[in-house]
Amino acid sequence: MGLFSKRKTEEEIAVVPAHLGIIMDGNGRWAKKRGLPRQAGHVTGAKVFRTIAKHCEKRGIGTVTFYTFSTENWKRPAEEVNAIMNLLRQYLKESLEDFKNENIRTQFIGDRSVLAPDIQELMAEAEASTADKTGMVLNLAINYGGRAELAMAMRRIADEVKAGTLSSEEIDEACIAEHLYTAGQPEVDMILRPSGEYRLSNFLIWQCAYAEYVFDDVLWPDFTTKDLDRALAEYAGRHRRFGGV
Ligand code: IPE
Ligand code: IPE
Ligand code: MG
Repeated sequence: MGLFSKRKTEEEIAVVPAHLGIIMDGNGRWAKKRGLPRQAGHVTGAKVFRTIAKHCEKRGIGTVTFYTFSTENWKRPAEEVNAIMNLLRQYLKESLEDFKNENIRTQFIGDRSVLAPDIQELMAEAEASTADKTGMVLNLAINYGGRAELAMAMRRIADEVKAGTLSSEEIDEACIAEHLYTAGQPEVDMILRPSGEYRLSNFLIWQCAYAEYVFDDVLWPDFTTKDLDRALAEYAGRHRRFGGV
């Protein structure tokens, strides 16, 4: 059970975030509770991801970013990292069929250059084959870290200044935002983290400056569309001030 206020009506749920960030967490603990290897949690978690992504589109969310694999997740045992990469391969191969009736545009954020070449190819295919979809934008954050993203943006800005195409006076908040992976996308309105952890873990640190946080104790493999609706209702009931009164 999360810290949710009373159920909201369908109408209130209609106040949906323009950009929702979801930290899919708790796969390992879910598996451990069942005496299964951590990988089993990732398998179920990947299925839940597909269901929740489609539900986000149904709820009219414009952009959703799923935290799939962080720049820090390489610290995990090779066996677990390989299992996650294989699930990613499988998803990328199946998503064309599985998502063919969805009006969802897939994009990837993070440094993909260090991923296996076949995965990079599948990612490019997934992006190209959904580029003309006009509905929800689905960002998958893979080998993504907020600090690495900011460092990448600063390198690109420095290169432009060096090349003379940008002056240092032009470096403002909008300029920085335009050099991030999420360039052109709305700021993050809401962050959802299940599994009972109350932290951002290097996710979208710039984009979250004014995000509303919704935490839930449910482990990701147990997360349902109902849990998402409750989280969206919680968001809809928040009073955002952005520094004003
Ligand atoms: C999230 O679940 C999946 C990834 C980080 C890839 P975890 O694997 O972090 O699960 P817990 O937090 O250990 O339970
Ligand atoms: C964040 O979860 C990364 C993803 C969900 C991909 P972690 O499980 O890696 O985060 P920490 O280690 O609990 O902060
Ligand atoms: Mg975790």
